[in-house]
Amino acid sequence: MEKFVITGGNALRGRVKIGGAKNAALAIMPASILSDEVCRIKNIPNISDVSLISKILAEINVKVRILNKTTIEIDPRNIIKKPVSCDIVRRVRASYYLLGALLGKFSEASVSLPGGCNFGVRPIDQHLKGFARLGAEYNIDSGVINVRSKKLSGNNVYFDVVSVGATINIILASVKADGLTVLENAAKEPHVVDLANFLNSMGADIRGAGTDVIKVRGVKYLKGTSYSIIPDQIEAGTYMVAAAATGGDVTIENITPKHLEAIKSKLEEMGTIIEEHEESVNVTRKTPLKRCNIKTMPHPGFPTDMQPQISSLLCLADGTSIVNEGVWDNRFRYVEELKRMGANISVDGKIAVIEGVKKLTGTPTKAMDLRAGAALIIAGLAASGETVIENIEHIERGYENICQKLLNLGANIRRISEGCEPLNVARVL
Ligand code: EPZ
Repeated sequence: MEKFVITGGNALRGRVKIGGAKNAALAIMPASILSDEVCRIKNIPNISDVSLISKILAEINVKVRILNKTTIEIDPRNIIKKPVSCDIVRRVRASYYLLGALLGKFSEASVSLPGGCNFGVRPIDQHLKGFARLGAEYNIDSGVINVRSKKLSGNNVYFDVVSVGATINIILASVKADGLTVLENAAKEPHVVDLANFLNSMGADIRGAGTDVIKVRGVKYLKGTSYSIIPDQIEAGTYMVAAAATGGDVTIENITPKHLEAIKSKLEEMGTIIEEHEESVNVTRKTPLKRCNIKTMPHPGFPTDMQPQISSLLCLADGTSIVNEGVWDNRFRYVEELKRMGANISVDGKIAVIEGVKKLTGTPTKAMDLRAGAALIIAGLAASGETVIENIEHIERGYENICQKLLNLGANIRRISEGCEPLNVARVL
């Protein structure tokens, strides 16, 4: 098993370049099969979820060619119509975007029920409601979702809850449907906008992405395109929090400042100094961290995918902070791991009460999911002593070269494999 070993206490200093947005890439790659030509996608993050989606596309004979470290070409010209039910599907939640993309292309799709991070129930009722509104019928049989329609027709789709996945899936299913589809109470995340921009660059007619009403007028043909994915707002936010947690001075490059407003506002409330430039932010913290309250909300609220990371930081703030998880039922599974490091947190349902402590101490820990793992890295960087993090495959699903990027910022971190103790100079001596 691969692990990270972190010896805390080093203030992060220097510059880090942010990669392409994971949640945009995981929507745009399946979307490319709606074209009848080759799509070139730039600023693709080098993460395992992207490799898994590539393998799933290969199952239906969609070719993914790697042109360089951050650019791929997706060739759907010889795609075959068949159920997508390989075991990889259950390992990446975004595999369910193939439902919308295949339904949009062939008027039918069969895809295994998705997997992904496990923090409470992850229903797909809004996806299925949207498909039905477009005239599709569906059933779930032996863990596979089958959706089909004689002819997809545009319609009004009102989402009972704001859902990134359902918004994306209905855009994919409606982009070639007959007539106008109006999505209401739609998700406004940057990756929803990025998907709409990608599809429009192929000749789609999508307006209003980034607002809660998105209008999709079906088109007959989608051509190939060359498109660059937006920077990852959550990767950027994670490094901003790591800089604040270690009292460092870090410039985070290749970002979209507008996507970081909620994170920047909360970090400044906690006493961090943030200088914003056109495509970078500089984060420094020289004074004690102040407490603050967080409520995670759909965009443009504070992102739920930054909740574990900011909670790690609040563990070291002066005073009591309240974190209210407004999106997921059970996104506090990392708390038990932080408490093993000396954090003082009590959780009741979707609320965590965090009493700041003077310091955290390193200890062996386990990453429960992607962002929980990021929270443990942040805690380990700020803690005294050595923190070992197991199950780092969760972390590497969504953070490109995180160990090297942190090493370049002066962190004392290394990646080890099971069965070999980290080389500790003190022990050797
Ligand atoms: C996407 O998940 C992201 N994943 C998640 O990021 C992120 O936490 C989430 O959006 C919210 O921003 C990807 O983009 C691959 P939702 P998704 O549908 O689409 C309820 C990360 O760390 N809901 O917006 O699955 C649901 O239970 C990952 O990068 C329904 O009730 O999330 C939740 O309470 C983790 N019915 C809320 O909506 C549905 O049909 C938001 O879920 C769908 C969702």
